[in-house]
Amino acid sequence: MAAGFFISKSVAIVAVVLGLGAVATIIALSVVYAQEKNKVTDLGTTDASTASTASTTSTTSTTSTTSTTATTVPTTVPTTTGVLNAWDKRRLPTTLMPEFYEVTLQPFLTPDANNMYIFKGNSSVVFVCVEATDLILIHSKDLNYTLQGNFHASLEAVDGSSVPSISSTWLQPTTQYLVVQLDSPLQQGQRYRLFSIFTGELADDLAGFYRSEYVDESGTNRVVATTQMEPTDARKAFPCFDEPAMKASFSVTVIHPSDHEAISNMPVDSTRQEQIDGNAWNITKFQTTPRMSTYLLAFIVSQFSHVCNTSENVLICIWGRPTAITEGQGEYALQVTGPILNFFERHYNTAYPLPKSDQVGLPDFSAGAMENWGLVTYRENSLLFDDAYSSIGNKERVVTVIAHELAHQWFGNLVTLRWWNDLWLNEGFASYVEYLGADSAEPSWNIKDLMVLDEMYAVMATDSLTTSHPLSFLEDEISTPEEISEIFDSIAYSKGASVLRMLSDFLTEDVFKEGLQSYLHTFAYGNTVYTDLWAHLEEAVERNNLRLPSNISDIMDRWTLQMGFPLVTVNTLDGSVTQNHFLLDRDSVVERPSVFNYTWIVPITWMTQDTMGDRQWLTSVSETKPEFKVSSSDWLLLNLNVSGYFRVNYNQENWDRLLDQLSNDHEAIPTINRAQIIDDAFNLARAYYVDVTLALNTTRFLSRETQYMPWQAALDNLAYFKLMFDRSEVFGVMTKYIQQQVTPLFNHYKTITSDWTTIPSGLMDQYNEINAISTACSYGITECQDLASEYFRQWQQDVSTNPIPPNLRSSIYCNIVATGGEAAWDFIWERFEEAPVVSEADKLRTALTCSPLPWILNRYLQYTLDSSKIRKQDATSTINSIASNVVGQPLAWDFLRANWRKIFTQYGSGFFSFSQLISSVTQRFSTEFELQQLEQFKADNEDIGFGSGTRALEQALERTRTNINWVNENQQKVLAWFQAETASR
Ligand SMILES: *[C@@H]1O[C@H](CO)[C@@H](O)[C@H](O)[C@H]1NC(C)=O
Ligand SMILES: *[C@@H]1O[C@H](CO)[C@@H](O)[C@H](O)[C@H]1NC(C)=O
Repeated sequence: MAAGFFISKSVAIVAVVLGLGAVATIIALSVVYAQEKNKVTDLGTTDASTASTASTTSTTSTTSTTSTTATTVPTTVPTTTGVLNAWDKRRLPTTLMPEFYEVTLQPFLTPDANNMYIFKGNSSVVFVCVEATDLILIHSKDLNYTLQGNFHASLEAVDGSSVPSISSTWLQPTTQYLVVQLDSPLQQGQRYRLFSIFTGELADDLAGFYRSEYVDESGTNRVVATTQMEPTDARKAFPCFDEPAMKASFSVTVIHPSDHEAISNMPVDSTRQEQIDGNAWNITKFQTTPRMSTYLLAFIVSQFSHVCNTSENVLICIWGRPTAITEGQGEYALQVTGPILNFFERHYNTAYPLPKSDQVGLPDFSAGAMENWGLVTYRENSLLFDDAYSSIGNKERVVTVIAHELAHQWFGNLVTLRWWNDLWLNEGFASYVEYLGADSAEPSWNIKDLMVLDEMYAVMATDSLTTSHPLSFLEDEISTPEEISEIFDSIAYSKGASVLRMLSDFLTEDVFKEGLQSYLHTFAYGNTVYTDLWAHLEEAVERNNLRLPSNISDIMDRWTLQMGFPLVTVNTLDGSVTQNHFLLDRDSVVERPSVFNYTWIVPITWMTQDTMGDRQWLTSVSETKPEFKVSSSDWLLLNLNVSGYFRVNYNQENWDRLLDQLSNDHEAIPTINRAQIIDDAFNLARAYYVDVTLALNTTRFLSRETQYMPWQAALDNLAYFKLMFDRSEVFGVMTKYIQQQVTPLFNHYKTITSDWTTIPSGLMDQYNEINAISTACSYGITECQDLASEYFRQWQQDVSTNPIPPNLRSSIYCNIVATGGEAAWDFIWERFEEAPVVSEADKLRTALTCSPLPWILNRYLQYTLDSSKIRKQDATSTINSIASNVVGQPLAWDFLRANWRKIFTQYGSGFFSFSQLISSVTQRFSTEFELQQLEQFKADNEDIGFGSGTRALEQALERTRTNINWVNENQQKVLAWFQAETASR
């Protein structure tokens, strides 16, 4: 899933909006799907800690429109006797294997007499008995069954022979099973069909089969029935063997109002109209799917419009709200999808596996996007694009999210990891190749370079904590829906992408592709574990006679089985090079053991002032490489293109020479490595490997730098200084210094855009223009603020004509709200409420968090709990942005503390990403007092817990302790450095 993973990108956009307001260490990637409820059920389980205990009673009231025999009262629940029964275990037994489902669902798009939205359904599943058993366990969550006889389901043999009779059936909410107990065993090798009839709630919880709403151009409220199954909510739509390795084919039938259209993974097979209870319904049956996992199913009933084209025999359609499609917002997605699909067909050397590809923009969507096979679903802002409103950042997001999801159509969908513990390979892989796919659609952008900042440096902040975790989990470490949800984090996505990029770099892309292709051909329609990919890459290495220091699994295990990454330290006086585990807090104790003792096999590319060296391998803790010894007039630079997932430190002499080079002729050092020097130096200073003044010295050359990557690296790192110091006297001189450095950049863009009237050509140049404006405005450069005021004045005169170029809107809106008081806030709020394009609404919504007025920010925080004001999907990111405002941060913290119980137990994680909330609200914490408050917060809520935010809380505690020490140690030095830099000019 382009998960909220893609939330990370929207937060990255927020970072631009707020200038330096967003922290570089955002761990934004946790995507959460499982709706967590904490209701105690009538079955009173002992496993009270699980938050997703489905309430079987809560939906009983919804069944008024259904058969009166519907009930969830268990028939006979056998008494438990000490040993764990199969139905108390989280994983399905392997006794039964599903082969074929026939599922019929009928969503009601108007509320019933009890004001509930529901769906009715029935389904049958054919399974083969692999091992004789008298017990059928099938996943079922929040479904309400119509009893057949006395039972929740009926059973027959596919060949018509006799079957064991059912002795009892019941629901097991804790483990989310429907249990069918037979009075004698099923026969090995026989096929059976289990049939059930049920209803469920079509809730607005963004999980399973759910509803999304929007208001159309005539002001009428419209309801869409749609799905989000990953990871464990297919069981909320119909009873199923809901594990990724339980692949089967599916025949889906949707009964929908005749004026609504239904779409699913496969093309329509047939549709016919029928009167049911006096209304016209269509019964639409879809073609049977290939063998696939339940989490990739999707069906949507809507009045959306679409635009289509055909690319190499695949019908491609983009769907969305009719007004959005009429206005052409689907055109960009349509234009890039064909080229991206073709790119992946070549990349994988495998034809697109399905006859069609639908992509749908939904008004309410929890993740960023979801790769359902043949029917990909998106947040609107990740699919729809409008030149008149959307920025270059919106465009990048659309093309990268599409590429991410389409990459999964093969890697993930055609070949699927056996269990969620290998999620990192699925998501890390897609997060890597999305850049290759996007590059094929927008070749002039150099988008692949952005991986360094957006994936690697973003995740290294988390991965340098002792509370990080390895990419790989053992299969039995991950079993509950909460455990599964929690691992959709930045480590899986961004570290996964970074280490695969490194692997591909040292294998070469061609060898990597060769191994990948044979992996896909071998396991098509099946399941794998990550070592299967290593084995196929190893074969490709051997066929190509590639010389590596060891085999692939031996090299890669160090990167996947232990957390963290190495710091490579080289001394150019003697060529010695060493490695050690890089930790932000050098005094922290690593409790997680590693069989590799936190050492790695490190591929090192390098250059000196006048040589490009051959790749060297560091295979032990300390070695001497004659190549790394350079003369006293030369410098050495390691990790070209930053293709390796590690940081670099040098002897002071070499640092001095690199800094001299930057100040004399910075372009002698490649652009990405200029960003690297900054990012490494700042992080080394955070961990006391180098003095903080060395890090600050790397920003001096920026007054002559116009490239995006080095600027962005500096702004990301100075963002940390802002967080630590914007409530202290340091901030006065820091502001002055940043003004000094950014003024030439501001003037550069003013000139090349003829006073902000033209758009710079490349992607990076457009991004850096945005950096120039947002930094200049947020650090109080008068000319920038005057520009913003002038735009605002023009806009107020003619509200229907927005004079601000789309790329600059986020920054200018923020400035308008930051300086314009209540009237400006109200003006922007009105524009937000009537925004015709979601990317425009997002910019306005975020700008509203820039207010310096506490009462306005507090009111805005309250709006996040009111979905008529802020859509549920946007609540987390709104709170995050408020927290990155220095005035808003304590308010957001109070809000979170005051509302944690409510947010956690009532709203659930389909609504809020707990891990993002915790990390954003605590990002400024740097005092003992704040640490105490955080510990108190943890203690106060120990009873209900933190669900998918558990690890984020531990990381917040660790980060706070590190910050306290760092500020104590560095504040005076930093103050003195800024004073000296600003006094000397
Ligand atoms: C409903 O069924 C009728 C009759 O088969 C068909 O003509 C019509 O296109 C269908 N409508 C939708 C929205 O599928
Ligand atoms: C890979 O190398 C390691 C260490 O040399 C060795 O133990 C292992 O057996 C090798 N694996 C394969 C598949 O060759």
